[in-house]
Amino acid sequence: MERDSTSSPPLGVLVIGAGAIADLHVAAIAADPRCTLVGFADMSADRAHAAGHRHGGVPWTTDVDAALARPDVSAVVLCTPNDTHEELALRVAAAGRHLLIEKPLATTVAGAAAVAGEFARRGLVLSVAHSHRFYDYARTVHAEIASGAVGRPVLVRLALLGGWIWPDWRAWVLSPARSGGHALHNGVHLLDLVTWWIGRRPVSVYARGQRRTAAELDVHDYLEMVVRYDDGAVAICEMSRAHRPAALAQRDVVVQGTGGLLTLGWDGEGALLWDEKGAHTLDPGVAYGFTAQLGAWIDAVTTGDTRARVSGEDAVTAVALGAAAERSMAAGRPVEVP
Ligand SMILES: NC(=O)c1ccc[n+]([C@@H]2O[C@H](COP(=O)([O-])OP(=O)(O)OC[C@H]3O[C@@H](n4cnc5c(N)ncnc54)[C@H](O)[C@@H]3O)[C@@H](O)[C@H]2O)c1
Repeated sequence: MERDSTSSPPLGVLVIGAGAIADLHVAAIAADPRCTLVGFADMSADRAHAAGHRHGGVPWTTDVDAALARPDVSAVVLCTPNDTHEELALRVAAAGRHLLIEKPLATTVAGAAAVAGEFARRGLVLSVAHSHRFYDYARTVHAEIASGAVGRPVLVRLALLGGWIWPDWRAWVLSPARSGGHALHNGVHLLDLVTWWIGRRPVSVYARGQRRTAAELDVHDYLEMVVRYDDGAVAICEMSRAHRPAALAQRDVVVQGTGGLLTLGWDGEGALLWDEKGAHTLDPGVAYGFTAQLGAWIDAVTTGDTRARVSGEDAVTAVALGAAAERSMAAGRPVEVP
């Protein structure tokens, strides 16, 4: 993307939390001329220093509030553990900065609603990194449904099967108290996506979790989640971090609508749309999702076009779904989505 030399100076972006996912956001910032990376804040001096060094010697600090007060910071990408999101996001809002925050927005529905409400009240742009929405496979499915190609969706099946990754994960991810549980931490990607595709209000969730290959860890590494919507549509989500071989990554999408069927397998295989005229192939593309995700947030900040960013309202619904899935697993029965 090229920048018009007459346009306003690039938006200064501070990254809080210089861990694993931050590098993907930094790559996206570097690819968008409408913004520029101005520094890192992390509670770990080692990590903040290493990130600053790695990315062109930008300033770094362990003092989040001092970083937020810098006049060249207009916006923040927050990449800290889930249980810190609510508190840090409210500090970003209090400092008057726009925010792209990693998912889930918070670990409780009340916390997520408080953050969304605060950004709305202050007129600041909040977007939540439900990154799957920005990958072309997800956009292809969304666009086909929105165009009416399959009629009204009545059944969506989404499977995201990943290999066994737990040994590399950090302590906070393995702690349900800090991550919110695996259905909220990772299951939320699927729950948000199917709800975005179906475009209806979720009313109940029935979830089951298994400890397939990590029985010694307090983590459900395999999840089955069934969501019912207010028009009777159903989404069946299957999510695994337990498959072998460990490098496995497999995805499968089926959308059954009143007027057609859409199927989409793994990258490169393309999507198939079946209607009364026969089968048609669609190219889902392979765009880099984190660039599109950042671009949607920058669009909202710089032009007021909020269509593509993930709204606070949607992110609160995603937290409600993830929390409901956790409650359903604990109760062993379907639960309502508040
Ligand atoms: N969208 C995606 O696909 C995706 C993928 C992975 C992780 N995530 C999300 O990104 C976030 C970060 O995950 P990660 O894997 O990068 O974690 P990580 O543990 O690798 O990094 C977190 C960083 O935050 C710092 N930190 C922790 N508490 C802090 C605080 N109070 N103030 C300042 N810094 C603090 C840590 O020192 C660490 O450097 C999580 O919310 C996670 O759910 C999203």
